[in-house]
Amino acid sequence: MERVLSGVQPSGSLHLGNLVGALENYVKLQDQYQTFYMIADWHAYTSRFDDPGSIEPAVMEVAASFLAAGLDPQRSVLFAQSQVKEHAELHLLFSMITPLSWVERVPTYKEKLQNSEADLGSYGFLGYPVLQAADILIYKAHKVPVGEDQLFHLELTREIARRFHFLYGVELFPEPQAVLTHAARVPGLDGRKMSKTYDNGIYLRDTPAVILQKCTRQMASDSARIRRSDPGNPDICNTYAFHKLFSAAATCELVNVECRSAGIGCFDCKKKVAEAIIARIEPLREKIEANLAQPDTLKDVLRDGSNRARVVAQETMTEVRAAMKLSTF
Ligand code: TRP
Ligand code: SF4
Repeated sequence: MERVLSGVQPSGSLHLGNLVGALENYVKLQDQYQTFYMIADWHAYTSRFDDPGSIEPAVMEVAASFLAAGLDPQRSVLFAQSQVKEHAELHLLFSMITPLSWVERVPTYKEKLQNSEADLGSYGFLGYPVLQAADILIYKAHKVPVGEDQLFHLELTREIARRFHFLYGVELFPEPQAVLTHAARVPGLDGRKMSKTYDNGIYLRDTPAVILQKCTRQMASDSARIRRSDPGNPDICNTYAFHKLFSAAATCELVNVECRSAGIGCFDCKKKVAEAIIARIEPLREKIEANLAQPDTLKDVLRDGSNRARVVAQETMTEVRAAMKLSTF
């Protein structure tokens, strides 16, 4: 079976965009691939080295959410990066063969360096994509489900693999391909992409009351519809975009018609969308809270995952060390 590896940074709570964009895809891939899902806690230190206490709780929250969404810890290997130290060794060895110009030209690098609130002027942050290449290649992954923003990192991963093959004369690594997580880009409450940085998200741990409030008070709609008696246009309405993602077909149809004739008001329409979102994520929220209430069980799952990941990582490292002629004494 071909292998899939993906990683997510433990940035705390996951939102609807993560669920529809990535998580549901991860769950489906379990049927066809040997799946490795890694929580990239070392990567988190590139921007949060000054807040170390936040990282383990965030790892736990991601793990709790993944399991709640249907990730099966028997079929998938769910683990935290920092628990498989072999990634660090491969990162170090890759750093020897990666030209500085390759990492300096990563498009997101300079942009993030300048625009982020965190101090990203470290050696480690420059090496971020090299560590990511190690994460992927150490499992000889064929497929890597990621968003568009990660495509360049994947290209760099393939370049590092090719350079390794060229320098040491062994074809160790398959060239990993991106599996683009469906353009199911969930809009944020304000219509921009849902993102933690924009503070426009609906989170998997939001209670029904919070979701209702966010939808009725913050969700954007057709701004040309000012009075209740004005007809609206669902085609350009952000609330309608949510209906299409979360409401039943009959509700969408009803809103589509009633909005244009001013038969339904925006407040009621938003209430309906809140109901649909709540119905979708309330069972998940309950499972997440239940998982978080059992930290020892979660830690067992992560420990078991890292033990299984390490077996594969160690096999690869044996081959890498031989190819690079590391000392054998
Ligand atoms: N850089 C990825 C992100 O921010 C996270 C990540 C780390 C990753 N290692 C990975 C993704 C390996 C895919 C494969 O989303
Ligand atoms: Fe948008 Fe619904 Fe208002 Fe129509 S009724 S403009 S679809 S929020």
